[in-house]
Amino acid sequence: MKHAIFITGTPCTGKTTVSEVLSDKLNCRLIKINDLALENDFVLGIDDKKGYKVIDIDALDEKVSEIISHSGELIVFEGHLSHLCSGADNVIVLRVHPDVLKSRLEGRDYSEAKIRENLEAEAMGVCTAEAYDIYGEEVSEIDVTELSVDDIVEVLSDVIDGRKSFDVGHIDYMDWLISNP
Ligand SMILES: Nc1ncnc2c1ncn2[C@@H]1O[C@H](COP(=O)(O)OP(=O)(O)OP(=O)(O)O)[C@@H](O)[C@H]1O
Ligand SMILES: [Mg+2]
Repeated sequence: MKHAIFITGTPCTGKTTVSEVLSDKLNCRLIKINDLALENDFVLGIDDKKGYKVIDIDALDEKVSEIISHSGELIVFEGHLSHLCSGADNVIVLRVHPDVLKSRLEGRDYSEAKIRENLEAEAMGVCTAEAYDIYGEEVSEIDVTELSVDDIVEVLSDVIDGRKSFDVGHIDYMDWLISNP
């Protein structure tokens, strides 16, 4: 039996939206990693230049491991820091083409610089690379650009059940960087 599924990806790829529907469908607990970090006071400070919260990853990792080891049931963890923690049975990276991600990010009150940084991270597959570094072949990455939330949940259920696999290395948005210098 699986104990922990981590859903990660660049901001606005749909982690929270999808994980809420997924955890309802699987009838399991959902832990939002950002909330967990705030509730447990794992914020080390605010990044001077970029203005985002710097999280104590070691403390977060320890907390996540503790939760998993004390739970006999499946838990979905979602958040762009989830893949930096240990203990997942599956790490799933949601990927969204930068052109589509751009319009979602522009819907938030992010600065131009923050939008650009996130688009570059998505184009370069930063979350996937970080997750692969830690988890290797246990990582799946799925291009969800064209999929509805319900479609994504269906695909994720298949991945979790082992009916489908999405090996890393097939999604390449580097062209976007070249056309958007
Ligand atoms: N499959 C989808 N199709 C269209 N829009 C979507 C889809 N999934 C999510 N969205 C929309 O994209 C926006 C971002 O979604 P969401 O907040 O779930 O992203 P997130 O990955 O959790 O972001 P963050 O890392 O900042 O928490 C929301 O407005 C949501 O409604
Ligand atoms: Mg979210």
